[in-house]
Amino acid sequence: MCGIVGVVGKKNATEVLLNGLEKLEYRGYDSAGIYVNGGSGHDYLVKRVGRISQLVAGVGPEVQGTMGIGHTRWATNGKPTVANAHPHVSNDERFYLVHNGVITNAAALRAKYLSDVVFAGQTDTEVVVQLIAAFARDGLTAKAAFAKTLSLLEGSYAFCLADRTDPAHLYVAKNKSPLLIGKGAGFNVVASDALAMLQETDQFIELNDGELVTLTADQITIENAAGEQLDRAPITVTIDAADAEKGTFPFYMLKEISEQPAVMRRLVSRYVDDAGTPQFDSAMLSALAAADRLYIVAAGTSYHAGLVGQNLFEHLAGVPTEAYLASEFGYHQPLLSAKPMFIFLTQSGETADIRQVLVNVKQAGYPSLTLTNVITSTLAREADYAVELGAGPEIAVASTKAYTAQVAVEALLAKALGQHKALPLAAAFDVAHQLSLAATGQQALIDQQDKLHELATEMFAQTRNAFFIGRGTDYYVSLEAALKLKEISYVQAEGFAAGELKHGTIALIEQDTPVVAFITDPITAARTRSNAEEVEARGAKVLRIASAALAEPGDQLIVDDLDPMLTPLLTIIPGQLLAYFTSLDRGYDVDRPRNLAKSVTVE
Ligand code: F6R
Repeated sequence: MCGIVGVVGKKNATEVLLNGLEKLEYRGYDSAGIYVNGGSGHDYLVKRVGRISQLVAGVGPEVQGTMGIGHTRWATNGKPTVANAHPHVSNDERFYLVHNGVITNAAALRAKYLSDVVFAGQTDTEVVVQLIAAFARDGLTAKAAFAKTLSLLEGSYAFCLADRTDPAHLYVAKNKSPLLIGKGAGFNVVASDALAMLQETDQFIELNDGELVTLTADQITIENAAGEQLDRAPITVTIDAADAEKGTFPFYMLKEISEQPAVMRRLVSRYVDDAGTPQFDSAMLSALAAADRLYIVAAGTSYHAGLVGQNLFEHLAGVPTEAYLASEFGYHQPLLSAKPMFIFLTQSGETADIRQVLVNVKQAGYPSLTLTNVITSTLAREADYAVELGAGPEIAVASTKAYTAQVAVEALLAKALGQHKALPLAAAFDVAHQLSLAATGQQALIDQQDKLHELATEMFAQTRNAFFIGRGTDYYVSLEAALKLKEISYVQAEGFAAGELKHGTIALIEQDTPVVAFITDPITAARTRSNAEEVEARGAKVLRIASAALAEPGDQLIVDDLDPMLTPLLTIIPGQLLAYFTSLDRGYDVDRPRNLAKSVTVE
């Protein structure tokens, strides 16, 4: 949700900023801008509505310098216009500011301190930059004006501030929104995500809320809210920059779908020992074993993976488990058990709705664990324990390999917990074998891309709506397959518990309404088949996706057999590919669907 970058030192700032913004485009793509300071009074502000490519086209050769800041926007308040695009500039043209987050008391601050100031746009960020300028005009240094402004703000922010009169410095601060400092030789950089600056450095410094950082070419000075200097060593970020490239694939989404078998195999070799037992931090397993109920808190696709996880933890680890939507849990907390433990499931590790719950959970003193793809993320750092999903960078906005990695890691963890508790069911569950079967089965489905493209065209080329149905884990995968289709192809799709259809929704079935039925659970297969027949009898066009052992003549797609708790690892592959090809057929930007952003850092 908005990406910010900054650079100061011996570098071509324009190049660093534009390269960085391209890598951060997944965070928002309504508008973008850069400010570059070339020293000796030359500086440049370029902003464009639309993608980074539009910004790049607007940056002339004269835009050169050694200090600068940049931003790619996902609009929160104020429409995507040039006036609302960042960097925002104070009316005296001294300060330039980029911001990720939402300042909730901006209107009150504007009324109190800036009633005589004329504003160019409608954003909260403009209030902040005008406030800094006002305090500087009152005689404060740039840093003191920034610090005073920060002390007045409510809400979330990651800021990077440039002072046109001083190209040797950049000022940075964060509260709730992600921000990292990258340490280079003779230069330093700032970014919302390490991915943006991997081409410049692999040395990153994590920041905590409330800290203010001053950057020069050679120095990084971190201070806490009390003004005390803090020493913090950089960590080495080991992501291979090439992992974040598209390579020969037309879209990141297809690349990431194709990587799923490798992710499954990598998770087995990373977490499972020679005896077939997953290995995790024993203190974490003891904390999990002490809990009388697990609460999985997540959003979107990760929530759908959490639903699959409920079954795994209950069955393999014998602990009641419930998955909750973070945005609901934060404000309507259910009655908790006596000894709860919280599992935060999140690809990005930055989702604001989840962080809101984590803050409450920590305040209440409950133990917490974050399962995330980004081990340097806020939620990984702030929970008591963190486990890495190891899916590799996921760039396409629609989540694919992170979902299957989440389900796989939940299975590994549930088995480890069950064995920690000496449960025979867990000991008997060969998770490494299941995940390697999943890898092979996924590959077999990925290899049927041509067939899936044909099915996508046949089912969804003309439609405005679609249904995905199943029971148990097949229901959970229906929710995820429907989300994939709607977010990238804009078809109104619903995932439905197959048995619920007849309680109202079946009224929507018309001639040729597409219905995809998932049939992988022997206990419910016959019933789901009946439900598929019921809609077919009312004119629906039904696509049946069944496990080999349950397949019947007429089923259009067969997936390999797998433990029914884990079949989403297979059935989601056609779900993802059907969505991918539908979006492609309709001519949409598969990786950058409208209105969305990859990392949702506002509530
Ligand atoms: C959909 C998708 C979103 C995310 C959700 C949570 O494809 O990616 O629904 O799953 O925004 O994000 P994370 O997992 O980063 O917390």
